[in-house]
Amino acid sequence: MSNITYDYIKTNKDVQTYINSADAALLSIGYTEHSNAHVERAAASAFMILDTLGYDERTCELAQIAAYMHDIGNVVNRVNHAQTGAVMAFRLLDNLGMPAEEIAMIISAIGQHDEGAAAPVTPIAAALIIADKSDVRRSRVRPAERELARGGDPLPDIHDRVNYAVKSSTLSFSEDKKELVLTLDIDTSISSVMEYFEIFLSRMSLCKTAARSLGVSFGVVINNLKIL
Ligand SMILES: [Fe+2]
Ligand SMILES: [Fe+2]
Repeated sequence: MSNITYDYIKTNKDVQTYINSADAALLSIGYTEHSNAHVERAAASAFMILDTLGYDERTCELAQIAAYMHDIGNVVNRVNHAQTGAVMAFRLLDNLGMPAEEIAMIISAIGQHDEGAAAPVTPIAAALIIADKSDVRRSRVRPAERELARGGDPLPDIHDRVNYAVKSSTLSFSEDKKELVLTLDIDTSISSVMEYFEIFLSRMSLCKTAARSLGVSFGVVINNLKIL
């Protein structure tokens, strides 16, 4: 076990630079917010999942670190950002003296978080997949605020529309801890539940697979209706 903590990684200037640069690159090509708000939320969810399921403190912390660093590869390119991010994280953490067995857990999770190449190969990877894919919220839509202020067509893109429609989202366990539930409150005047599924069906089935690997089921509740 090393002394590289989640709190330390959050204050590391190099990590912060890559997070900010990756987010700026995504902003310039019209993607949703991938800054501190997204990665800190992902870290909190990944921690909550593993902590609730009784994983040890360090495993929960490694999940937080993986979640915090999971999107830095976007600074290189959106395509294959999971894999490039994993290699970047390797260099950063290796230079900080983190032991190989901990780095292995982190880069494996980062490298397998993105749709298409995602696989819940470890509990940390599974927690990161769920934490990442369940971060749907209005404040991730950036052009919308600009366009709404201008009075133009605010949400021409379905991804933006679906995210913008989500007034609140919560990830929590059922009382018996056997089901992980994503609860969404969607403004259906902005986007229909069907549109949500058009975009998020593949992500939700990935969450289902990841949850299963952790020994729990995954459910989705939209506007008080159990959808999944
Ligand atoms: Fe990503
Ligand atoms: Fe992400």
